[in-house]
Amino acid sequence: MTTATLSPKFELQPYKSLENDALEARIQAVREQLGSQLMILGHHYQQDEVIAQSDLRGDSYLLSQRAADSTDCRHIAFCGVHFMAETADILANRPDKVAERDGERVGVYLPDLAAGCSMADMAAIDQIEDAWDQLSEVIDTDDLTPVTYINSAASLKAFVGRHGGIVCTSSNARAAIEWAFARTSRVMFFPDQHLGRNTALGMDITDEKMPVWDPFADDLGGNTEEVLTQSKVLLWKGHCSVHQMFRPEHVALFRDKYPGIKILVHPECPREVFELADEYGSTGKIIQQVEAAPPGSQWAIGTELHLVNRLKQEHPEQEIHFLSPVVCMCATMYRIDLAHLCWTLENLAAGTPVNMIEVDEETAKWSLVALERMLEVR
Ligand code: 13P
Ligand code: SF4
Repeated sequence: MTTATLSPKFELQPYKSLENDALEARIQAVREQLGSQLMILGHHYQQDEVIAQSDLRGDSYLLSQRAADSTDCRHIAFCGVHFMAETADILANRPDKVAERDGERVGVYLPDLAAGCSMADMAAIDQIEDAWDQLSEVIDTDDLTPVTYINSAASLKAFVGRHGGIVCTSSNARAAIEWAFARTSRVMFFPDQHLGRNTALGMDITDEKMPVWDPFADDLGGNTEEVLTQSKVLLWKGHCSVHQMFRPEHVALFRDKYPGIKILVHPECPREVFELADEYGSTGKIIQQVEAAPPGSQWAIGTELHLVNRLKQEHPEQEIHFLSPVVCMCATMYRIDLAHLCWTLENLAAGTPVNMIEVDEETAKWSLVALERMLEVR
């Protein structure tokens, strides 16, 4: 990945002291100037002010699809985290799309480069390659399909593309694992052990067949050769620090206090919580389930705080609770604010773009192989 930062016409600091009203008016002015050339994408975990500026809010799958389908637009301001902007760059700049635009690329901008994902950071490409090398000593890696959650660096997606694998999101993890099992008898899933485990348990794969690979263990990811030989799904020892805060006792607390309440969680939650839940789904699916519920429904929702608070505001006819007494918010998503967005857009309009995310050609080529498979399975 290369990050191009040209000398900006405007420095960030002054934007931080502007009021939201002023920032909103200035963002609107850039929108008017750039028209349909500009698309602002916002992930559901973004703060309300940022969502209000987004042309489309969505889960990882929908936002990837939108980037892939973009026609008029030449600039995407991605209000989300780093792996999402990388994915948008790869999909919006597919060779066929670039040819359709007579060689013009779409610039993808992440308003704050520090908006990463701690889960994605738990699997580095050299750790994955090392694991694969070690595995090839004890099992047949030609009979092993790598599946990476979209919450991973482009280099991992490229690894997966090169090795006949697929990317998944939380909305199509099961379909992706089924796709992999149609090809090989074993799957390696990274970086989120919880999404991998929760999905595979639903496919009747038992715990003993799902060893966890610890990249910091001395040998074989902390497993014996026998355990690896008997495995069906190898899970990577990664997790989301936000979703792992939800605990079974929180579920018990809500069920005691509100008999009949529905527990709705994101599949990044640990198994103990996931198995107690009534419903689960990607951020997009969580919203759909709430939207479809009758007035008076009671929910305790286990996903990022900003999304749950927005659901509360948008659905006063329902009773919505946050499934934890402690604040579980994605601190990196929260880095994107109106000041960073306005700064990014004004520099873009001035011809000195900042925070451009551009994946190198070779990585993009192989990532695309795995991402196109993701977009085909549902
Ligand atoms: P979704 O694909 O469900 O939007 O999830 C993204 C994410 O990072 C959840 O933590
Ligand atoms: Fe990553 Fe968790 Fe934040 Fe999602 S909520 S972007 S998985 S750290």
